[in-house]
Formats: sequence, C-alpha cells, structure tokens
Amino acid sequence: MATVAVIGAGVLGLTTAVALQRRMPWVSVTLITERLSPETTGDGSAGLWEPYLLGDTPSDNVLRWSKRSYDIFCELWKSPLAGDAGVSLVPVIYVSEDSNQSLPDWRQVVLGFKEMNKREISQFSSQFGKQYRFGFRYISFTCEPTKYLPLLLQEFKTRGGILQLSRVSSLNELASSRYSIVVNCTGLQARFVVPDLDMHPIRGQVLRVKAPEVFHCFMDDSNNGCYIIPNHETVILGGTKQNDWNLKVDPKDSQFIHSSCCSVLPQLRGAQIVKEWVGLRPGRFQVRLERESRKLPNGQEIEIVHNYGHGGAGVTLSWGCAEEAVDIVHKILEEKTPRAML
Ligand code: BEZ
Repeated sequence: MATVAVIGAGVLGLTTAVALQRRMPWVSVTLITERLSPETTGDGSAGLWEPYLLGDTPSDNVLRWSKRSYDIFCELWKSPLAGDAGVSLVPVIYVSEDSNQSLPDWRQVVLGFKEMNKREISQFSSQFGKQYRFGFRYISFTCEPTKYLPLLLQEFKTRGGILQLSRVSSLNELASSRYSIVVNCTGLQARFVVPDLDMHPIRGQVLRVKAPEVFHCFMDDSNNGCYIIPNHETVILGGTKQNDWNLKVDPKDSQFIHSSCCSVLPQLRGAQIVKEWVGLRPGRFQVRLERESRKLPNGQEIEIVHNYGHGGAGVTLSWGCAEEAVDIVHKILEEKTPRAML
C-alpha cells in the first residue's frame, strides 16, 4: 500500500492531507506534527483570502492557486457547513497612500472588484483623515483558522488518516521510515527541516477586539498602514510585517496598531481588547511547490514534495497549492507503482 507522510498541520498541511485523501482514497496518509490548532501560526490570523506578502511568486501561479481556494471557499460559504467552518463573505475596502501601486492581477478572480475613482478616493481620504492615492473594493471570504482547521482535521480522521504528534527536526530523520513520499508543509520551520535558508520570518502582531458593529474589512496597504478584519466573535486589528523572530507581544506595536485602526474607525477606541498575539509568517522570495528526490546520508533515496513559503497567504493559496502538491504525489506514485494499482 502506498504510504504518504505530510509534515505540518497548519492550513497547508491539513489541506494537502485532505486533498490527498479525497483524490487517492487508497493511499494511507499520516500527518506528522508537533502542534495542532489552536497552537499553529495561522490560528491567530483572521484567515482573510487576499494574496499578501508573497515576495516574487510568479503572478500566474498566484492567480491559479488563489482562484482555486476562492472558488472552494465560495462553495463552502454556500453550504450548510459554512458556520462550523468559520467561513464568511466579507466586503473589502483596500486603500493606499502609495501612488505607484497598480491593480492586482487577481482582480479577475474575485467577485465585485471595482477600482475607486478620484472622487471616491478623495471621499475616503477626508472621511479617514488620510492622503489616499489608490483604492479598490472587492468581495472576499474569511476562513477563521480556529474553526476551519479543526474541521479539516475532523475530515482527515474520518477518512482514516493517522495523526502522529511528534517533532521533525530534519527530513533526514525520515530515513528508514515506511513512507513512499514525504510532503513538506513545515512553513517557517522549513528553514531548519530542509534546511532552506531562504525562509525567513515576517513577524505579524495583531489585536483582537470586541466590535460587533464591524462587518467589513479595511486594508490600508500604505507604508505604515493598518488593517481591520471581522471574524465571528472578534475583530482583528493589524498589523506588523517585520523580519524578526520575536514572538513576544511588543507594547509599541500594540500602540501603533491600536492608534492607526482607531484613527480609521474611532468607535474602536472603546472596544474591549480580548487578545494580543504574535505569529511568524513563513516568508520566502517565492512559494516553494516542487519535487525533490533526495539521497539521505545513509544512502537511502526519498521523494519529497515541498509545499511551503506562503507568506501572509496560507489560507489564500491553500487549496490551489494542496491540489498541485497532490498532482505531484500522484505522478511520483505512477512512476513507482504498476499502473493497475493506481
Ligand atoms: C496577514 O497575514 O496579516 C494578512 C493576510 C491576508 C490579509 C490580511 C492580512
């Protein structure tokens, strides 16, 4: 029987494991992870679909991967599972004081994309006391990780997946394991596990507040911008994007986030802060989604499928990247297994 190990149980690891089971139910899938939701990096995030902090990942890849996730979230939102999955449809207002921004290629993927005209930009600027030069609106989805990840894990288990709670420090540790293929969804840990020195942290600090009157997302992508994203019980105020390993909440960052968001929506000044959180996004010059045939120090050959380096777009690219990782797994198994068994 073909046996595949997926390392990592963030949104990429779980989605890839489930995509594998859906496509090849006869394959035994083991998910190896040290941490599960709500302890993963993505759990503190708002789970907004928006291609963000993806370095120089080629635009056609971003388009293809993000479209697949958008379409799946749209179907999920229309299904009776939407509430349990934490999937909501949200309008997004995106503005920037930066004049040399251009319209994103992914505008063709989303519902309701509309560039703001000069009059609208100046209305928003005077409304929010800023000097915006660029803006658009569109419809997106939030996919709240603390609800969505447990649902994926539930599907993984129901489909017969094996969960192994342990740490993998190096891919070389998988020598003599019984796995035909290892799918590497280790995020920032890929820096050590692969090791891949192109991986770096993009530190994100956010606050969660009680603000039940906020139903829309506001993204100010200026140099010192901020964002406001509603989830079901709280609203996420962000954020930072620093090349920094510090996992502690920095009061200076909290102060900056709170005052920038309150200058946009003054009613947030009275909102109760329920959580402050820091996560290290898996930064890379581009997403790594590819096969590696590796000879281990003991001479053994293993097949690895890398699927990491998604910056601030783990949820956004999750399904597109997971399904392409599964395509690669299928191709490897085809090479290794007699045709009749696939
Ligand atoms: C973030 O990583 O902070 C983020 C990602 C997507 C949309 C907004 C924020």
